[in-house]
Amino acid sequence: AASGPAAGEVRERDVRVPPGVAVFDAASWNGIAIDSTCGGHGTCHKCKVRITDAEDVEVTRHDAKTFSAEELADGWRLACLVRAQRDLRVDVPPLVTRPKAATVGVGRQVILRPAVQKRYVELDEPTLSDQRTDLERLLGALDDLDVTVDLPVLRRLPGELRRHDFKVTAVVDDTSLVDVEGGDTTAVCHGIAFDLGTTTVVATLLDLTTGTPKAVASRLNAQQPFGADVITRISATMMDPDALDRLRALAAETLDALAQEVCKDAGVDPEHVYEVALAGNATMTALALGIDPEPLGVAPFVMSTAHPPVVLASDLGVAVHPRARAVLFPALGAYVGGDIVAGMLATGMDRDKRTRLFIDVGTNCEIVLSDGDRIVATAAPAGPAFEGGAIRSGMRASDGAIEVVRLAVDPKAVEAVTLGVIGDVAPRGLCGSGLVDAVAELVRVGLLDASGRFVTDEVAAQRVPHLAPRLTTVDQERIFRLADDVVLSQRDVRELQFAKAAISTGWTLLLEELGLEPGDVQQVLLAGSFGSYISAASAVRIGLVPPLPALRIVSAGNVAGEGAKMALLSVRERAGAVALLEEVTYVELSDRSDFNDRFVDLLAFPV
Ligand code: FES
Repeated sequence: AASGPAAGEVRERDVRVPPGVAVFDAASWNGIAIDSTCGGHGTCHKCKVRITDAEDVEVTRHDAKTFSAEELADGWRLACLVRAQRDLRVDVPPLVTRPKAATVGVGRQVILRPAVQKRYVELDEPTLSDQRTDLERLLGALDDLDVTVDLPVLRRLPGELRRHDFKVTAVVDDTSLVDVEGGDTTAVCHGIAFDLGTTTVVATLLDLTTGTPKAVASRLNAQQPFGADVITRISATMMDPDALDRLRALAAETLDALAQEVCKDAGVDPEHVYEVALAGNATMTALALGIDPEPLGVAPFVMSTAHPPVVLASDLGVAVHPRARAVLFPALGAYVGGDIVAGMLATGMDRDKRTRLFIDVGTNCEIVLSDGDRIVATAAPAGPAFEGGAIRSGMRASDGAIEVVRLAVDPKAVEAVTLGVIGDVAPRGLCGSGLVDAVAELVRVGLLDASGRFVTDEVAAQRVPHLAPRLTTVDQERIFRLADDVVLSQRDVRELQFAKAAISTGWTLLLEELGLEPGDVQQVLLAGSFGSYISAASAVRIGLVPPLPALRIVSAGNVAGEGAKMALLSVRERAGAVALLEEVTYVELSDRSDFNDRFVDLLAFPV
């Protein structure tokens, strides 16, 4: 597309989109603004673009109404109605005013076009010669929008109009009238983006008029007592007929507590939150909706639907505006859920021409690989090691957890062991990133061999005499003492090897699927509440990621929450999430005959 962002300035951009996407969406996904007030519904007739070489591009009736015969012959079309079925060259006229945009996710520029819009209108008061209905009067002023009205809003309409001298603000969500508010309330419009994690739930209150986050809060998912991971929660519903209702209520309790907290922090009336977006894995999404998750937990691992219905926020127990909708992310599969689709959106996995590998590290590890053309995804069962489970001194990343470990090779170093502890308190245990660091450092200094075995006392004394006294045998198990009460045992190293081998088997098979070598990867994005904190160098040293320079390995942060924000800020990005489902090929690992051989090969640390 050639776009002129300001009059006189012409910029050429070459962008990649899946076939069949509207030019309007394609432009928006790539940060190119096209004029519009209807948001791509074909009703405002403002999204005019010129397609060079447009002979085979359909002329719709809306195009015929908007353009003259000469303009049509010259290639002018409405961008929201032209679908890119082949490579197109598109001239985008400059916008008179620069659109509002926000930077979200991993450097994504999102042009603001929330589904929720507010329009202030001053209507003519009815007279005996103008007896149009209240609704006709209102909808007449919103004629570029195609809006439907439900009974609860209709009930409020006559009173609101008359109490406010027919000067009201219409709150529209996509195609439905959510409310009519007296006077001009256009400056007050909010949404909440939820990242519904199995462990932690995060809520961000967004000002939808500016894209600015106003408050963020997080808390543990109240479903914890039912188990730490999705499998234990699914099992609970299989064993106890009341568990599903309880789990649903606990999800609701968590979401609503966060909603009230962010509103309170920002001084925003919850009634002024008109939409919420939620990204969660397939199990968390099913439980929040009260859908039986059992088929997700047993082979062949089937979801009830890939596209959760649009529901009201109140259906999820979130007490904001009573007509506020809740938009839930679609999912790719039982183990590559809406949180990962949101993550792909936030990292622009389908918008970038580089070869990129996305790894969301957790109990269930999701892996996505794009070669700039094709995208493949899989899930690898990494087990609980990264969350501190099955690790002798393992703990969650909270106060007292060692998250960074550095071992000195030089015997004369002032500190033989340097620890980074969360909260700057005495170390109590080891969280996932500390575990990765500890093992990587022990490999580096030669206390662990490539097979993952601790070396003998003699070898240790020879190699690193200043560290050797920390390596001992307790209860017939080799351990390395990191701090007074924190040790790393031989069994812990094995647990980590199993977890990292599952993940590296996942990306190795995906690379093979696309005919690529590990060195072809141009960027690795480590995501998730744990993955974002892993040191790049340590991840490479233990073979968790391909052997690349540390600069090519970036922490992507909480991308599920960022994707949820994007869905609130732009209907086009929301459509992009749905389009992703068509673009990504899911690769099932569990039925591959070569999985086990690869897994065993990849247990060792790279030398
Ligand atoms: Fe309104 Fe195309 S965006 S008609």
